Amino acid sequence: METLYRKYRPKTFSEIVNQEHVKKIFINSLENNFISHAYIFAGPRGTGKTTVARILAKSLNCENRKGVEPCNQCSACVSIDKGNFMDVYEIDAASNRGIDEIRKIREAVGYHTAQGKYKVYIIDEVHMLTKEAFNALLKTLEEPPKNVVFILATTNPEKIPPTIISRCQVIDFKNIELDKIIERLKYVSEKEGFKITDEALTEIAKRANGGLRDALTILEQVVRYSEGEIVIDTIQDALGLVSIDVIKTLLNSIKKGDIQKVLNIIEEIYFSGKDIELFLNQSLDFIVTKIELNEYDYIDFLKPISTILKDIKYSEEKLLLTKLGLIELTRKFLNEKTMNNSENKKTKSENFESQNQLSLKNVGEPFMKFSPNLSDSTETNNKNVIDELMEELKIKGDLSLYIGLSFAKIVETNRDIVITFPPDKKIQSEIVKSKLDHLEKLYLNKAGIKKEFIVKIENENEDAILTKLKTLFGNNFTIEE
Ligand SMILES: Nc1ncnc2c1ncn2[C@@H]1O[C@H](COP(=O)(O)OP(=O)(O)OP(=O)(O)O)[C@@H](O)[C@H]1O
Ligand SMILES: [Mg+2]
Ligand SMILES: [Zn+2]
Repeated sequence: METLYRKYRPKTFSEIVNQEHVKKIFINSLENNFISHAYIFAGPRGTGKTTVARILAKSLNCENRKGVEPCNQCSACVSIDKGNFMDVYEIDAASNRGIDEIRKIREAVGYHTAQGKYKVYIIDEVHMLTKEAFNALLKTLEEPPKNVVFILATTNPEKIPPTIISRCQVIDFKNIELDKIIERLKYVSEKEGFKITDEALTEIAKRANGGLRDALTILEQVVRYSEGEIVIDTIQDALGLVSIDVIKTLLNSIKKGDIQKVLNIIEEIYFSGKDIELFLNQSLDFIVTKIELNEYDYIDFLKPISTILKDIKYSEEKLLLTKLGLIELTRKFLNEKTMNNSENKKTKSENFESQNQLSLKNVGEPFMKFSPNLSDSTETNNKNVIDELMEELKIKGDLSLYIGLSFAKIVETNRDIVITFPPDKKIQSEIVKSKLDHLEKLYLNKAGIKKEFIVKIENENEDAILTKLKTLFGNNFTIEE
């Protein structure tokens, strides 16, 4: 069976979901016959870069173009769709990083088209090219032959040399809005005859993090797994999620300081074969959803749980680290309770004081060091400014900014503040990005100095290797290209 996301790859601009500005640009330039010779398609996974590139390639070569749209029937359109049109080349830079590949393009680029009107080179994940390959590409872009269009697609535009960027028209693809994802899922489900509730579709859309490919892949996974109508529980089962009740029980047990219960729940989840990371992510989603509904019962869990997630990401001891993290968190609540009690009692009788100190000692040292609201990642001594800022945002500031920042690693240097998000937290990174001005002002007011804030998405593979290297050699190594 053809996968859903392939089957429902749009074949015309009008079929592209969201990305209105992208459509506008191409409709305009095709109408006016004003095509750039090089584009950079930048944006998150599965948001339509390759799809738009192919539609453009078809529009440029179609024998019966209707307005700006390709006919999708002529031999050019059909063979571009099949991937065997002589003048449209798709190259994956992730597996062809070197100079040879680009040299071949450089040589071929000067020749006439074989079949069509335009030669179109689609280079996927272009940021993976080596320095030499980029230099070779730059030469080609500097003397662009006629009727050749380069489309350089990338999820990491910041890794493309500025010399290349300045010779291209940059087109930004955005995460797709939740409503639009739901609408598309509904459309596909109707076409395919799936029986699925709106609530279930919403749940799938949320899990897709702004990408339509992921949304369709999850839908397919759920449909394969289930019989009969798909409801929200089906999705939880199919995706290995735990029920919301379990999450609530866990969070409440932490609040109550019930360490034994917390450990039992975690073990039960783990030994029933569920994925701990997925579970922690699900808990974060739950907390965020609550906050969005103006319920703040669990807001203090956001940062510590997201810290545990970061800690276990590349570790093989996921269960152990999760347990330790949650024990510390539970102890922190226990500690707060004890302190509150201690304060109450102190006013009544001094005699209780020593008793309470004793009980504090018994809980042990680790919890004293642990404070869920303190970010552990700042590298200069301005640590407190960021922490104070976070605290203020939480209590009376911009909650969406607080939530966004909670998912990030924040590293402060003398010059700037780098906020790094894990690859699956792109939406949160977009939120923070859109509020950087505000954040910079807040920081300026607090710290009295101006610093630049930089938002980044961590590169999965690279960081896994880096983390490994660091555990082996500490920080005493340099990386050369
Ligand atoms: N904007 C969109 N409108 C409609 N469908 C989309 C859109 N974006 C993605 N899709 C769906 O997801 C599939 C993959 O999209 P596409 O290959 O264009 O993503 P991409 O941006 O190139 O991702 P990657 O960075 O992983 O290469 C498409 O076949 C289509 O089913
Ligand atoms: Mg692609
Ligand atoms: Zn055609």
